[in-house]
Amino acid sequence: MNNYAKYKGMMRKIADIQYSSAVLSWDQETYMPPKGANFRAQQLSTLAGIGHELATSKELGEILNALSSDASLSEKEKRNIKQSLKNYNDNLKYTTAFVEELSKTISETFQAWQKAKADNNFALYAPYLEKLVKLKREECKLLGTFAHPYDALLNQYEPGAKTADLELLFTDVRNQLVAFVKKIAAKPQNEDKFMFLHFDKTKQWEFGLDLLKQMGYDFEGGRQDASSHPFTTNFSSQDVRVTTRVNEKDINEMIWSCIHEGGHALYEQGLPSEEYGLPSGEYVSLGIHESQSRLWENNVGRSLGYWKGNFSKLTKAFPDNFKSVSFEDFYKAMNIVKPSLIRTSADELTYHFHVLIRFEIEKALIEGTIEVNDLSSYWNSKYKEYLGLDVPSDSKGVLQDIHWSHGSFGYFPTYSLGSFYAAQFFAQAKKEIKGLESEIEKGNMKPLLDWLREKVHKHGKYYSAEELCISITGEKLNFKYFMDYATNKYTQLYNL
Ligand code: CO
Repeated sequence: MNNYAKYKGMMRKIADIQYSSAVLSWDQETYMPPKGANFRAQQLSTLAGIGHELATSKELGEILNALSSDASLSEKEKRNIKQSLKNYNDNLKYTTAFVEELSKTISETFQAWQKAKADNNFALYAPYLEKLVKLKREECKLLGTFAHPYDALLNQYEPGAKTADLELLFTDVRNQLVAFVKKIAAKPQNEDKFMFLHFDKTKQWEFGLDLLKQMGYDFEGGRQDASSHPFTTNFSSQDVRVTTRVNEKDINEMIWSCIHEGGHALYEQGLPSEEYGLPSGEYVSLGIHESQSRLWENNVGRSLGYWKGNFSKLTKAFPDNFKSVSFEDFYKAMNIVKPSLIRTSADELTYHFHVLIRFEIEKALIEGTIEVNDLSSYWNSKYKEYLGLDVPSDSKGVLQDIHWSHGSFGYFPTYSLGSFYAAQFFAQAKKEIKGLESEIEKGNMKPLLDWLREKVHKHGKYYSAEELCISITGEKLNFKYFMDYATNKYTQLYNL
């Protein structure tokens, strides 16, 4: 067996372990009975240990190093080796002692966060988070030299991303989007009360399945279940699961989680299964992953054309709820802009202020210009500044997100990157796909899905996020596309 075949075999074994963990985690979030929790944690930790051993084995290192100078490899093979070698070397930078300490601190911090959020008591969480932030600062150092220490954390979710570039991007958000939302706020506001009446759970569930089917989600290679926080997970590109949340008093939750997770799932289902376990069979970055969910959710799902076709299905499923609601009023309700406290239920414009705030805070925390004890007051002053809101409690403020309790610093910016990439990709799709909007109106999503498969999905991680963006649109990520999209749409919606 040649070295490349050996490399493939080893990578696939690592993937088998990781995807087996993913099955256990999926089960934990969906069907596992409460008593299963303790042994499940042990099973997951055992598999993580085995995975780490395989991923840092001497044998893998030797093969990767030998292959890194093998000129006979194809371009795709070379790129796989380069990325795997980088991951391998990054993994080696962590001592076992550090990994154990980090994982222990994360589980303690997560438990403290749950209790602190339920009791609205930040002080219960602060000492654990302080320890975790200290470890994260150490992690930045051990990962090597970067232009900004926060780059090291960003790169774990968005390889190649730089703090300096994000600062420029968020300066655009601050200068253009904040001003634009102020213009909207000065106009008469739209109404969405009818989205919060009683909606039968079973009917909602069926409607959600229909939306997924229409998008082209393959139920032979996936399924939908319920969970308290919607997510997408996959065990290969042939088994991609989504979950949703159904709230009888708010139909928004089901609609947006189905379309959003459906977008993530289409990406995973479109990855080349013959590249299983290799970088060329994986997604590019979280920002690109999120571009796929946001493109379906916002550019498609919140568009006039999409609902021209689907509104009649909705009124058929819920005749009493919508009997006195016009299509125009429904479209306005889908796209209401209203500053709010909670990120996950924010509209598609003010959403980015929530991310901007978290980015500013994380950067300052990692730099050491603020400390954990300053978080709550810093948070509240930022919500006043960007959203004009007083934060009534830490549960609805600094304690709302799970991310920091998991040690996930550097994750939030990928949400905004996703929306901005989505706007840029969708603008290109409109140029390249003849009659795209009228196909969407007819409920025919195939031309769009085929385009995404060809432009994004089938390449796996062959391109970096920046290379992919250039290959699709001819230029790097440019905030202008998001701003153009927002201006066109909301000028009409709010008579600006
Ligand atoms: Co997402």
